[in-house]
Amino acid sequence: MNQQNLGVSKSIAAHYDRGDIASRVFAGLQASGKNLDALTREDLAPVDQFHARGTMATLELLELAAMPEGCNVLDVGGGIGGSARLISAKLKAHVTVLDLSVDFCLAGERLTRQMGQDKQVSFKHGDATDMPFPDAGFDAVWTQHSSMNVADKTALYREAFRVLRPGGKLALHEVMGGFVTPPHFPVPWANQSCTSFLAPATEVNAIIHAAGFTELKWLDVTEPTRAWAQQTRAALEAQVGRPPALGLSTILGAETGHMTMNFIRNLLEDRVTVFCGVFQKAHTL
Ligand SMILES: C[S@@+](CC[C@H](N)C(=O)[O-])C[C@H]1O[C@@H](n2cnc3c(N)ncnc32)[C@H](O)[C@@H]1O
Repeated sequence: MNQQNLGVSKSIAAHYDRGDIASRVFAGLQASGKNLDALTREDLAPVDQFHARGTMATLELLELAAMPEGCNVLDVGGGIGGSARLISAKLKAHVTVLDLSVDFCLAGERLTRQMGQDKQVSFKHGDATDMPFPDAGFDAVWTQHSSMNVADKTALYREAFRVLRPGGKLALHEVMGGFVTPPHFPVPWANQSCTSFLAPATEVNAIIHAAGFTELKWLDVTEPTRAWAQQTRAALEAQVGRPPALGLSTILGAETGHMTMNFIRNLLEDRVTVFCGVFQKAHTL
């Protein structure tokens, strides 16, 4: 990686590296009256489903991807592991989270231990454009709302292809470029434009094909995401000055409301779109 890319990568990691996230999550859960020894996925969802439409979007992608029980999944940019824990529980799968943020990996490990899933879900610090895994080791590569931070999408999907076994699937749920530019900043994935890399959906789709994948599903989910955005905006307006005990602000701090409002504006003004896709690596190459 050259010096300039290294600097960008460090700035992206610094956006997510927010200290002892797990302790703040546990404090938020206790303040909401939750029993830390009997946590449910729903308790953690306000903070560990760090993407538009939360758990609903994750369940929809799970259905779309149709991954087999017991599979070995890599969650690229999996954050603090909400989707990884959900996939593991639903499919009895082993899930490895790869993430650029050390603090997210550490928080993910603690939350996963607390949920009693640390035998099935593990965390690895690293970069999606240079994955620290051997060829053909995973049955599926999963990724939600992480490619916005990745400038070199050719390397991202080339690596996804490399680490998949023949016949394996890539499942994605990603924010992409819109018809109007530029987006408003800050947004939840970037404080400024130099760490945000939104490409038009047609371009991303072409890059995935060029990596060698066969397309199984490609869905524009911008409209349902806009409906979610309207509801989220109303909820945020109702709670101004009174952030919830547990939410994205537990990770990103006081700027979270502003970031989320900008994401909503970007959606409603056609500055970003949201797509889901499922692709397959051929059984025989
Ligand atoms: C918006 S969060 C989404 C987290 C998670 N996928 C979810 O939906 O809850 C984006 C995540 O992508 C990770 N990320 C960004 N660029 C990355 C890269 N080049 N390699 C690995 N992870 C990356 C960030 O550290 C962060 O955890």
